[in-house]
Amino acid sequence: MSHYVELSNLTKSYPTPKGSAVIVRDFNLNIRKGEFVSLIGHSGCGKSTVLSMLAGLNPLTAGGIILAGKELVGPGPDRGVVFQSPNLLPWLTAFENVLLGVDQVFHTASREERRDIAEYYLTVVGLGESMHRRPAELSQGMRQRVGIARAFALSPKMLLLDEPFGMLDSLTRFELQAVLMDLWARNNITALMVTNDVDEALYLSDRIVMMTNGPEAFVGEILEIPWERPRDRRTVLEHPDYYRLREHLIGFLNVRAYTLKGLTPPHGDSGHGPADPAPKGAAPSPSAAAPSQLEALAA
Ligand SMILES: Nc1ncnc2c1ncn2[C@@H]1O[C@H](COP(=O)(O)OP(=O)(O)OP(=O)(O)O)[C@@H](O)[C@H]1O
Ligand SMILES: [Mg+2]
Repeated sequence: MSHYVELSNLTKSYPTPKGSAVIVRDFNLNIRKGEFVSLIGHSGCGKSTVLSMLAGLNPLTAGGIILAGKELVGPGPDRGVVFQSPNLLPWLTAFENVLLGVDQVFHTASREERRDIAEYYLTVVGLGESMHRRPAELSQGMRQRVGIARAFALSPKMLLLDEPFGMLDSLTRFELQAVLMDLWARNNITALMVTNDVDEALYLSDRIVMMTNGPEAFVGEILEIPWERPRDRRTVLEHPDYYRLREHLIGFLNVRAYTLKGLTPPHGDSGHGPADPAPKGAAPSPSAAAPSQLEALAA
């Protein structure tokens, strides 16, 4: 069966003074149409490298990427990108920032239609009242809402997000996760999101892809997330498997991200346990205890 997105043997090396450094080697991943996939791994393992290759912003050293049956070459409006900070043009309003891309992508539409698109997405992300303000007059969370509206307004085939909520406080982060999930569901869009937040990945994803440590990082494991959609945070947090899966992700990051590469984990754990998910009914370990902040915010 062919997949909507196919990353095949994706490999990236960067030149260094000591010769070429292979950051990612033979990274393989298939994504279904409309699927939400998160990519998680230690800082510096190569997550942004993978995402930027998919965005067409970083040439591949080897391997290939197919999106909707076509081999990708370079960037294009078929992929919407959301970074940690949205890089808005400071002299334009939120509305004009979104309209800028819409004008380019939908140049055959009427001026009125293009303005409607920008206005619609800015309203959906909650900026109905403030879309005519400039970035300096918006909070960081509001600016990131503009970034999300801008990405969706171009109706891309795929959404690429690199720690989109990494700079936000937890309350704003939670709000924007819900905005993202709502827009993603309405648009049936295929998404790949880099995050280092296991709870964010568990809340948003259909699957979580765990990368080994670098150099020469690859896909270590993939976790299927069973919660039904539409999701709400409290139901997800109260799901009987939540802490088992959370513990599994943390176990990967603490142990198997190293051992799969033949490295010794820093905490001295041998990591020779099973690579498959923990047995059903396993008691949650203390390290996976509920973060009280999470539960308070979900209340
Ligand atoms: N242009 C570049 N030239 C040389 N090395 C690079 C370049 N870009 C990234 N690297 C190196 O590649 C490795 C992976 O970087 P990358 O930004 O993909 O990691 P990451 O997993 O996204 O990390 P983080 O979670 O901190 O964002 C790092 O060691 C980084 O120093
Ligand atoms: Mg990164």
